[in-house]
Amino acid sequence: MLLLVAGNETTTNLISNAMLAMFDRPDLWRQVTADPTLAAAVVEETLRYDGTGQGLLRITTTDVTLSGVTIPARAKVLPLIASANRDPGYWTDADEFRLDRPNAKDHIAFGTGIHFCIGHMLARIESRVAIEALARRLPDLAPAGEPTRINSPVLRGLRSQPVHTKPTARAAHAI
Ligand code: HEM
Repeated sequence: MLLLVAGNETTTNLISNAMLAMFDRPDLWRQVTADPTLAAAVVEETLRYDGTGQGLLRITTTDVTLSGVTIPARAKVLPLIASANRDPGYWTDADEFRLDRPNAKDHIAFGTGIHFCIGHMLARIESRVAIEALARRLPDLAPAGEPTRINSPVLRGLRSQPVHTKPTARAAHAI
């Protein structure tokens, strides 16, 4: 059950977040359609830029002092991993979606420590394959309206995104 719940919507939403980023950056989407192997970089940057998990619930085991503020032991806290993934003290142009980051895998979208995501390799493969397939088969994919977001305190992703496209001759045969 845990594998199903943890592995389904996270990856599904990552694919839609990646495509949303591509719709915002048609210049990058053109690069990906010209070279679909860039899909792996799209996945990694989406995990950093617009990951599907924004925060992780924790309970402190001891008093912790961060930036001059002491959080007492046994406090419920919500560290925002998505904020760390946009930390301007760490990332160059933190709010920009880029495919050329030398430290692209330094994000903590899959958590860290003993609970580090057990499905990270599967999630990376599934998302890369999906984006590669879209780049090869539907290179003209473009937004045809505004997206709507899912209403969730834990997941970040899209409920809907109208699109239009022209399938290529090869794609029409393959789909
Ligand atoms: C984009 C996709 C995914 C994201 C962003 C993601 C994110 C995360 C994060 C942040 C954690 C750490 C939770 C914590 O520390 O409290 C985690 C744990 C976990 N993930 Fe994922 N995950 C993804 C895909 C998957 C997939 C595909 C599977 C399984 C097929 C999976 C199974 C799990 C499980 C079982 C844990 C708990 C590990 C533990 O507590 O030791 N996840 N995931």
